[in-house]
Amino acid sequence: MKYNYKDLGLSNTKEMLNKANREGYAVPAFNFNNLEQLQAIIEACVEMGAPVILQVSPGARNYIGKDMIPWMAKAATSYVAASGSDIPVALHLDHGPSFEIAEDCILNSGFSSVMIDASKYDYDENVALSKKVAEFAHKYDVTVEAELGVLAGIEDEVSAEEHIFTKPEEVEDFVAKTGVDSLAIAIGTSHGAYKFKPGDDPHIRLDILKKIEEKIPGFPIVLHGSSSIPQQYVKMINENGGVIEDALGIPDDQLNLASKSAVAKINVDSDGRLAFTAGVRKAFADNPGEFDPRKYLGKGKEFMKKYYKEKIVDVYGAEGAYKKGTERK
Ligand code: G3H
Ligand code: 13P
Ligand code: ZN
Repeated sequence: MKYNYKDLGLSNTKEMLNKANREGYAVPAFNFNNLEQLQAIIEACVEMGAPVILQVSPGARNYIGKDMIPWMAKAATSYVAASGSDIPVALHLDHGPSFEIAEDCILNSGFSSVMIDASKYDYDENVALSKKVAEFAHKYDVTVEAELGVLAGIEDEVSAEEHIFTKPEEVEDFVAKTGVDSLAIAIGTSHGAYKFKPGDDPHIRLDILKKIEEKIPGFPIVLHGSSSIPQQYVKMINENGGVIEDALGIPDDQLNLASKSAVAKINVDSDGRLAFTAGVRKAFADNPGEFDPRKYLGKGKEFMKKYYKEKIVDVYGAEGAYKKGTERK
C-alpha cells in the first residue's frame, strides 16, 4: 500500500454521514480538477465550519494524474489544520467505474472513500460488484457508496433519456446484500447544467425519497446531480462572451428539504464550474489584456468560494457543524 489515507489527515465518510443524519444536515460533496477549485472548496468549508467530501471523478483522476491526487488532498488537510479548524475531510472516488480503479485509488492514491457505480448493470450484477468493492474497501477502513436507479442525462458514459427512479422495494435487500455504507438514489436529479427545459416544473420526487427512508431508516442516502444552476452566473457568462442557453437546475429549497432527511451527502460539480467560469470570463472582460493566470483563475476561485459558502447555508444546512476556522486568505 503506497499511502494510508489517515497519514494524509483524511477521514472516511462513516461518522461524517452519520453525524449529518443525526443532526439534520447534509455533507457537501464537491468535485475538483485543479488547485484553484480545491482552494475554493476547502477555504469555503473551513470558514463555514462544514465537513467536506472532496470528489475526484475518473476524468479528474486522469486530468490531475493519480500520483498528484494524494498530495492535493494532503495540501487541503494541512490547510485545515493550519487554520485551527477541525472539519473532517474525505477524499472520494466519484462514479468509480470498476473494481480495479477503486482498488487502485485505495491502495495507491490515499482515497478514504469510493463510489462503485454499477447502476448501469442489472440488479444482480450491481449487487455483486458493489459487494466485492465493499468487502475489499472495508479491509482498509475505506467507506463505499453504491447506486441504485439511473439518473437521466449522461452518467458514467451511459446516456439515459428517462430517469429510472430507484425502487423503494429494492433498497433494503441491496444494502443488506452489498454491505455498502451509503446509497445513491435516483429521484429526478441529473448531471450537468441542463436538468430541465424551460416550461418544466423543476422538482425532485421527495415522495420516493420518503418511501426509501422508511425502508432503511437512518441509512445515509446520497443525491447526485444536485446543482441548482444559479442563473446569476449563467447570465454573467452569457454577458461576457459565453453561450449557455436554457440551463436549469434543482431548486435550492427542494434540496434543503432533502438535506434535513436521511440524505446525508449531496453532490455538486456543475454549480462550481459555472461560478468559476463566470469569474474567469468577467476577469477577461474587465481586462482583456490580462495574461497572469493568478488574476483570472483567482477571480474564478473567488466566485466559486463565495457561491459554495452560500450553498452550505441554503442547501446543506451544514454551517457550524464543526469549529469555524479563521477567515484566511
Ligand atoms: O458526476 C459527474 C461529475 O460532474 C464529474 O464530471 O466526468 O466531467 O469530471 P466529469
Ligand atoms: P451536477 O452536475 O448536478 O453538479 O452533479 C454532480 C455530481 O453528481 C457528481 O457526482
Ligand atoms: Zn454524480
